[in-house]
Amino acid sequence: MQSPKRYTITAALPYTNGPVHIGHLAGVYVPADIYARYLRMKGKDVAFVCGSDEHGVPITLKAKAEGTTPQAIVDKYHEIIKNSFAEFGISFDNYSRTSAPVHHETASEFFTDLYKKGKFIEETSAQLYDEQAKQFLADRFVVGTCPKCGFEESYGDQCENCGTSHNAQDLINPKSVITGNKPTMKETKHWYLPLNEYQDWLKQWILVGHKEDWKANVLGQVKSWVDDGLKPRAVTRDLDWGIPVPVEGGQGKVLYVWFDAPIGYISSTKEWAAERGIDWEPYWKDKDSKLVHFIGKDNIVFHCIIFPSMLKAEGSYVLPENVPANEFLNLEGNKISTSKNWAVWLHEYLLEFPEKQDVLRYVLTANAPETKDNDFTWKDYQARNNNELVAIFGNFINRVVVLTNKYYQGVIPEPGPLSATDEETLKQLTKYPEIIASSIERYRFREALSELMNLARLGNKYLAEEEPWKKIKTDPERVQTIMYVALQVAKGLSVLCEPFLPFTAEKLRKMLHIEKAGTSAWEEVGKEKSLLPAGHAIGKAELLFSKVEDKEIQIQIDKLEASKTADASAEVPEQKDTIGFDDFTKLDMRVGTILEAEKIPKTKKLLKLKVDVGIDVRTIVSGIAESFSAEEVVGQRVIVLVNLAPRKLRGVESQGMILMSDTADGKLSFIEPDQDSVSNGERIS
Ligand code: 2FM
Ligand code: ZN
Repeated sequence: MQSPKRYTITAALPYTNGPVHIGHLAGVYVPADIYARYLRMKGKDVAFVCGSDEHGVPITLKAKAEGTTPQAIVDKYHEIIKNSFAEFGISFDNYSRTSAPVHHETASEFFTDLYKKGKFIEETSAQLYDEQAKQFLADRFVVGTCPKCGFEESYGDQCENCGTSHNAQDLINPKSVITGNKPTMKETKHWYLPLNEYQDWLKQWILVGHKEDWKANVLGQVKSWVDDGLKPRAVTRDLDWGIPVPVEGGQGKVLYVWFDAPIGYISSTKEWAAERGIDWEPYWKDKDSKLVHFIGKDNIVFHCIIFPSMLKAEGSYVLPENVPANEFLNLEGNKISTSKNWAVWLHEYLLEFPEKQDVLRYVLTANAPETKDNDFTWKDYQARNNNELVAIFGNFINRVVVLTNKYYQGVIPEPGPLSATDEETLKQLTKYPEIIASSIERYRFREALSELMNLARLGNKYLAEEEPWKKIKTDPERVQTIMYVALQVAKGLSVLCEPFLPFTAEKLRKMLHIEKAGTSAWEEVGKEKSLLPAGHAIGKAELLFSKVEDKEIQIQIDKLEASKTADASAEVPEQKDTIGFDDFTKLDMRVGTILEAEKIPKTKKLLKLKVDVGIDVRTIVSGIAESFSAEEVVGQRVIVLVNLAPRKLRGVESQGMILMSDTADGKLSFIEPDQDSVSNGERIS
């Protein structure tokens, strides 16, 4: 697209069933914010919109788990999430929520419009149903084996393992998340968007039309879905939390959350435009508007296939120019997990590192999962802060500001004739706006940030080579020029760092006594002209960045370790129903020793044992062969339940049961007396 008139930038609406963590920031919100800030600095007309995704099953499940209402859950997390974004400087023009009346209205109208245009298929079919909960099971209310990759914990609408999106009834061995029951089938009516009808168009538009400018990971996923063949997709659900289906026969049903959520981008734009008294429609309908969706890889199908098909079906909207989806960020080698508390939560980070928003923005961009999953480690965080932000960027600025104050009471000196190195340094500086812009415009934010740091390196190198602190005694006139040149680089950095490090940019502007960068500032750095004129007075030095100490990092690592321990104990199975003392005394358990053992042929698990239990030597069949060989158990001391009614297993009568401990992953171990002096036949009581 040649020079768009305006930009509509969306960032995935976060689910409001928990706070946001570093994975969200790295995958979606920081790159989207860099892009939006950069465009504004270039004087572009930008609507950067987002909001809370307040419908959908995860919210209902969270409310059930906490014994409260979905509304209470979304109210709580909407505030937390909104604040975290604001604190990290994510510069949304509007942050809305899908419970807002404007959204209910917009999504309802959108559905009704497609309905009237005959774009849906209406179909009654048998769907998974939980008889006990009296509820249909769709999306995250049901788990089962993914028909594509075999992952056993796939959700009804999407497999987290392979990313495939499917219908709940496609799952193998489905199980209700509410009761754990096996679902039955029950008839119900729904409206389907026939994605198959959009398949050829999608193929042409994305796989041909955008094969050069969309990211390989996005094209790869789209191709895989299109090659598999798209199927009609239900856009309504039998649930009571969501936007009511606004057409005849829709009573008791709501819109599928993935139908309403992306429309949230439109309603957020409407809300923003209404507040400013402008028209929202050009941002979504004018051919000169560039729509860009920032998302994580698990959202690709919804933004590249389902939402565009909805927009196409409606007919008057623009389609995304790009969907620069990121891969996932892991944490210390493991997948970030809300349920396992394996995460760095933004609201907690802000309490623990209150002045270090930009450090996290920096580390998450420098290590962004742009082309593959990446790992965040606290050691890397510390190293990037200490060796890059403090040692390169901070050090350069500090030297410039301290020396200018020391030699010239903070007033920028008049330069003398420029040496070849001065000319070269200033020329290099003018190239950076274009270099950084080119990376940002291709959604290569890591590359863009590394170029910004190269500019700081250029400044450091210049000072290190020119050594004004030595020349001040021998050639004070030359020092005037050196400091003048270094100050131009400092000003350039203050402008070009703004999209990445907005808090640092502000501090730096305060130090240099300059105004917030206007809409021509970016371009001006690229021109060979004085950015900070001689005679301008700057302020005193303040530290831009401070070192992160080992002990601060250790606290974070220990905190994560503690979640691991808590998680392991969470895996301990629940206590069984209470029994009376009489029930317990009925059990006759004795110490014994295994004398002989042999594998029962044609079985995987069974060993036939001869066990001396003090009373007699008896035969016991035990299902331990997958954990122990026959040879290794001979001589093993054991505890035996001796009065268990005899039963035949594979034709062999078993006269008791060996007690074993059993871990969650199925590992067995023997329980034995801790002293050899305990004799066979002694009772356990
Ligand atoms: O994956 C998620 O967190 C979803 N709530 C994203 C929704 S994006 C959209 F389309 F609104
Ligand atoms: Zn799968």
